[in-house]
Amino acid sequence: MGLRSEGDRDRRGGARAGAPPRVDAAVARFMLGSLAAIAVIVVGAFFALRDVAIDEAIGDTRDRVGAEARLVEAAGLRNGIVRGDPAALRHLDDLVTAQVIDDSIVRVKLWTRDGRILYSDEPALIGDRYALGTEERELFDTGGAEAELSDLAEPENRYERPQGKLLEAHTPIRTPDGTQLLFEIYQRFSSVNASSARLLTALAPPLIGGIIVLVLFQLPLAWTMARRLQRGHREREALLTSAVEASTQERRRIAADLHDGVVQDLAGVAFGLAPLAADAQRRGDAAAAGALREATATLRQGVRDLRTLLVEIHPPNLESAGLQVALSDLLSPLEAAGIETSLEVEDLPRDRDPRAMEHDTLVYRVAREAIRNAQAHAAPRAVSVAVTRAQPAGTRLVVSDDGAGFDAAAREQRGAEGHLGLTLLEALVTQAHGTLDVRSAPGTGTTVRLELPAR
Ligand SMILES: Nc1ncnc2c1ncn2[C@@H]1O[C@H](COP(=O)(O)OP(=O)(O)OP(=O)(O)O)[C@@H](O)[C@H]1O
Ligand SMILES: [Mg+2]
Repeated sequence: MGLRSEGDRDRRGGARAGAPPRVDAAVARFMLGSLAAIAVIVVGAFFALRDVAIDEAIGDTRDRVGAEARLVEAAGLRNGIVRGDPAALRHLDDLVTAQVIDDSIVRVKLWTRDGRILYSDEPALIGDRYALGTEERELFDTGGAEAELSDLAEPENRYERPQGKLLEAHTPIRTPDGTQLLFEIYQRFSSVNASSARLLTALAPPLIGGIIVLVLFQLPLAWTMARRLQRGHREREALLTSAVEASTQERRRIAADLHDGVVQDLAGVAFGLAPLAADAQRRGDAAAAGALREATATLRQGVRDLRTLLVEIHPPNLESAGLQVALSDLLSPLEAAGIETSLEVEDLPRDRDPRAMEHDTLVYRVAREAIRNAQAHAAPRAVSVAVTRAQPAGTRLVVSDDGAGFDAAAREQRGAEGHLGLTLLEALVTQAHGTLDVRSAPGTGTTVRLELPAR
């Protein structure tokens, strides 16, 4: 099982420190959301209004068929029409073409109850027979009028197809001798789209105006909130950095105190004891001379040990000694303990890359933690450290050991007990826009991989 630092960090939800949220991006997202809402409202309103307009148009056509039917009944219909008398047909046609057909009404049909077309302004239809729908047949008994969208696929409507979308309306009328016929008109639909667009244009200004006012009120709010978030993020980052810095400074202070106090004193005492041993020897007091020499040797060893400790709690100045030396100092205690070590450092000329120093500090910190962890927890046979540089300024560090390895649960538990070596580093690395990948599994060793991008 591999352990990825990203996932671990997310689960703990603790020291996460990505790039701070951008205010302009947050506000842009808010604006985009508002625009999308406006678009949804406008499109939705158009279709809703269109439905209303269609209903209105159907009602309008129904009224219209009643009015035209009264006109035809009063002035155009003769008894001969039922027999197909040419004079009666001509008389009706004159009235229809002169007074009924116009820009909006494009066709007229006159039906018998059994579905024969007695008259139409399209002569080809006269005499044709089609089954009338139930609703139309019922009109002969109930009277009144009904209207609907025309189905232009019907064969009776084949001559209307070029007109585009149409509404059709029927109503019964009577010849002078009382024969019932069905009067039908076809009205253009285009007026419906026009009227819904008209309704929308009327409604749009208050609607859009209202939304704009809303957005204008919310915009400063969104801006302030994004700013507050960003500030919180920065403060958290600063706190984290200063926590890490504080511990570094504390180490530095202890190292300085030790160096200037105890180490100097002990070195001085050892220095003072050496001639005393020589004196005792000269006096022939072999026992005193031996004791003094031993004390001097112990003191010198103590001073050496203290100096080693100093190097550990306050690392050598990276800038003067370089990463290679600093890392090899870190590895020397492992070598002393019989662990096989390997170190490869690809050095970049500093003057060519001013960011190298910044990277090197982080590389050193991560390497130090990984090496310490290997020594403390892994009991490895070998540990390797490699630093490679990608052009122009990226850096990669890989520290691997062949020791015990660990699983996420173990680390989680140690983390809960306050052991946060890796966790704190992850936060630092993320802050430097890098990635820290810790892969391990019980029995397979551990690999810590740090990638720092060119910025
Ligand atoms: N190289 C490794 N081999 C085996 N186990 C490891 C290794 N590195 C880390 N671990 C495990 O992960 C845990 C967490 O490591 P981390 O460095 O975060 O804390 P720590 O070393 O226990 O304490 P601290 O670093 O704070 O002194 C360790 O306690 C150990 O169980
Ligand atoms: Mg550790």
